[in-house]
Amino acid sequence: MQINTSINAKTKLYGLIGNSVEHSISPYLHNTLASIYGHNISYTAFKVEESDLKSVIDAAYKLKLQGFNITVPYKEAIMKELVHIDDLAKRIGSVNTIKWTEQGYFGYNTDALGILKSLELNDIKIKDSTVIIIGAGGAAKAIANSILMQNPKKVYIANRTIDKATALIENVGKYYDIPIKSVLLEDISDITEMIDICIQTTSVGMYPNVDNSVVSGCKLFSKCRNVIDIVYNPKKTKFLSDAENMGCKIINGLGMLVFQGIMSYEIWHDIKVDNDIARDILCDIERYV
Ligand code: ATR
Repeated sequence: MQINTSINAKTKLYGLIGNSVEHSISPYLHNTLASIYGHNISYTAFKVEESDLKSVIDAAYKLKLQGFNITVPYKEAIMKELVHIDDLAKRIGSVNTIKWTEQGYFGYNTDALGILKSLELNDIKIKDSTVIIIGAGGAAKAIANSILMQNPKKVYIANRTIDKATALIENVGKYYDIPIKSVLLEDISDITEMIDICIQTTSVGMYPNVDNSVVSGCKLFSKCRNVIDIVYNPKKTKFLSDAENMGCKIINGLGMLVFQGIMSYEIWHDIKVDNDIARDILCDIERYV
């Protein structure tokens, strides 16, 4: 009989808390990173009911479970269970990573940073660029903050409901001295200037509604250089396919998902994951999903 020595009394435990979590790539991602870096950890997924969130976190803290990713629907609810929340997570208003400390769990948001890494690894520069963000929900708020931190020249927020775009601008605009304009989604093609980066942040076009796109026609794409969709199932949404047909460079949301996880790993283990390792893991996960 072969004894499995990879998990032992010194193994530190990590996990994902959400509802639902069954299809998450996070266990694969974190356990792979641990084997690459030789960390004695184990990461698994926990489906938690809303009424149990507080008691689960209290118990996890006492058991010294070292860290969790927090996913839908608890990214806001988790905040009241934490003793400290970093500034970016406060601005975004949600937490997706918590880390055990002697004082209690600390909270971070790496969702916002995943897109920066995805753009960096595709050699797309945000500084001095003109950016359109489509959508004005929670994902748009995280992405708007991360883009604005990099000093773009100008940002447009395009949304079906203009009031939500205006509210998002009021919310994030106070932190940055950068022009931010709201645009009604149906008027998005009226923008005349070149757009360096266009980021689609809604769930429109996600499986099974694969024939849907948040924009009708391709006029917008004739002015765009780089087009990003946060959706990764399907890997090429109609939005991305239309953009590609117009000659744009396209990127799906898988990189953002993988890189936000890698950044949680960096926070927990106090290391910097090498870009080549990040790229290799993304390639592996592209085959796995
Ligand atoms: P999330 O937290 O995932 O970003 P959300 O906060 O519910 O989700 O935000 C959803 C975003 O998708 C909103 O910008 C929404 O537009 P409205 O503000 O007009 O509701 C956008 N959205 C959802 N369905 C859409 C559709 N069919 N067409 C255009 N925009 C849509």
